[in-house]
Amino acid sequence: MKAAAFFPATRSLQVVTDLAEPQITTPTGVKLRMIDVGVCGTDREVTHLTIGYPPAGSEYLVIGHEGIGEVIETGPEVTGLKPGDLAIPTVRRPCTDPHCRGCRSGRSDFCSTGKFTERGIMGIHGFMTERIVDEAEFLNPVPAELRHAGVLVEPLTIAEKSLLQAEQIQKRLPWGLDPAQCNCVVLGAGPVALLGALALRIRGFAVAVYSLEREPNPMADVLRAVDARYFSSQECSIEQLAEALGSIDLVYEATGAARFAFDVLRSVSPNGIFLMAGIPPHRPAAPYEIEELMRSLVYGNRCICGSVNASKIAFERAVEDLTAIHHKWPDALRSLITGRFPMERFSEPILQPTGIKNIIEITP
Ligand code: BGC
Repeated sequence: MKAAAFFPATRSLQVVTDLAEPQITTPTGVKLRMIDVGVCGTDREVTHLTIGYPPAGSEYLVIGHEGIGEVIETGPEVTGLKPGDLAIPTVRRPCTDPHCRGCRSGRSDFCSTGKFTERGIMGIHGFMTERIVDEAEFLNPVPAELRHAGVLVEPLTIAEKSLLQAEQIQKRLPWGLDPAQCNCVVLGAGPVALLGALALRIRGFAVAVYSLEREPNPMADVLRAVDARYFSSQECSIEQLAEALGSIDLVYEATGAARFAFDVLRSVSPNGIFLMAGIPPHRPAAPYEIEELMRSLVYGNRCICGSVNASKIAFERAVEDLTAIHHKWPDALRSLITGRFPMERFSEPILQPTGIKNIIEITP
């Protein structure tokens, strides 16, 4: 079986052709024929050796954690999925520590030991291959109409988990997180940011995306089509942005650019919430005026919330939202996928990313 693999010892990306086809070994196992797998910044980080490692005993890691596949076989005890159905696997698999509350409650996205694994990233092969087997509990059914856009579900779950947390946190306010009263700013215009903007828009929030590139650019076009605003940080200061919007009540940070993010944090309105989903690269620590930051957090009841990975609940919301987005803004959704590559060329979008979202077509 063919697979797209990363070899850490030589830091090389190669298609391997000798991977054994996985077999169902449990009554609740499911075999998928992979259709599409998205490429993301984490794959690039894997090739920079800043994150990830192969399974024990393997000299390579099959990469890919944004996958959609078609069920081709199920174990005898599988319910809810049958051959022909489309499914999207979650990424993280729980640790085995009996005291890990996150993993023992089915919420490995809140694993507290750090001993979890992640398919295509940490210790287990990923989805950029012809067939995979996984347990039914880690698979999310998706409607057939999402066959060509379903690959966007996983990156959308990053926003969904963040938003679920924002909803919980803002229950501290008698008025909660009311879309009609909440101006959202999304930082960055990559796929995770744009999908976050779409998730907010489909819920009726006012959304402004704040990112580096000047207009015109394809990301701003997508946003215009969904009635979101776009501001370039080269043309508009953070103060001007805050003034133009009147208030910044929720920020969804998806750049990982720490200085930029913390500068925006100062302009968040009182009682606001700042969701951090972007992961900064490993660099020497940036100095920061932490006293001022702390004062602004306390005096303003501002809340910073970090968020990584996503549970099945977030996947379910992502499937629902993507279906709604597909119905309401089909062209905008389609325009997010800007590059399709065969497996033989999988290293190109990883090493030289262009456009918005690139995907590897496993079964065209
Ligand atoms: C994935 C998450 C994962 C994170 C860290 C992201 O790209 O979407 O599922 O937890 O990387 O490995």
